Amino acid sequence: MEVPDLSAEYISARIDNDFWKNVFLYETADSTNDPADLLQVQCSNESGTVILADSQAKGRGRLGRRWSSPPGVNIYMSIILVPRLASRDATLLTVLSAVACANALRHGASVQAWIKWPNDLMVGGKKIGGILTEVKSDSDKINLAVIGMGINVNIHRADFDEDIREIATSVIEETGRFQPRSGLVVQVLNEFEHWYRILERGERTALLQEWRRRSSTIGKNVMVTVGTRVISGFAESIDDEGMLLLKLPDGSLKRISAGDVTELR
Ligand code: BTN
Repeated sequence: MEVPDLSAEYISARIDNDFWKNVFLYETADSTNDPADLLQVQCSNESGTVILADSQAKGRGRLGRRWSSPPGVNIYMSIILVPRLASRDATLLTVLSAVACANALRHGASVQAWIKWPNDLMVGGKKIGGILTEVKSDSDKINLAVIGMGINVNIHRADFDEDIREIATSVIEETGRFQPRSGLVVQVLNEFEHWYRILERGERTALLQEWRRRSSTIGKNVMVTVGTRVISGFAESIDDEGMLLLKLPDGSLKRISAGDVTELR
């Protein structure tokens, strides 16, 4: 059977429906990360809801940036979860999603994707995707997590917005082959479930190990922009909560929760 480019039925039939309760596909959305705008309230709070859109009018990236979301070419997907996780572990959901996307790109599209901390999916130094995790939490626990994933799939270089043309790439640019988005979505969701179950069993070390295996950041000298500050150092590792551990020139270790990384070598 030929794989349809983007079909909720195709995807639903190939994922574990006990874990993934609903798959919604919209022709267009402002942002799939705003589920309440799209779904009835009871659904938008149900763990295991997947929201896909063929295009987004107001796609968002990290740090309030715009996420270019033209129709017919890319994956714009959000996953809703009610995880049993402490608020301080929210970054682990980004870590997990990055692992799921990188592995799906490798196994499902033959693209050698790497993870640039915290949320960038990279191929050959260019960005192929990104993750935007947004959580509602009490002081100590997460009540609802919306994890948005954007993956550039069948978009050609010439169709990227000019400001990202030199720094972005896509599956078709890397492989020269059209990739049905449904197949890649199935891979991402199955990988995600696999690693989520591992995290639920409390085996975060296994997840962090997989992340390190896929990381392009660890073991490099980096510059991290945090707001208006630039911190340079050696990226030693990530800790148990997904924070970046940077060794500074004076030998001390700095723990960084968010920032933009430039990898130097
Ligand atoms: C980044 O790299 O800055 C994160 C990009 C996240 C984009 C995805 S596309 C699906 C979901 N909806 C959004 O508006 N953003 C995320």
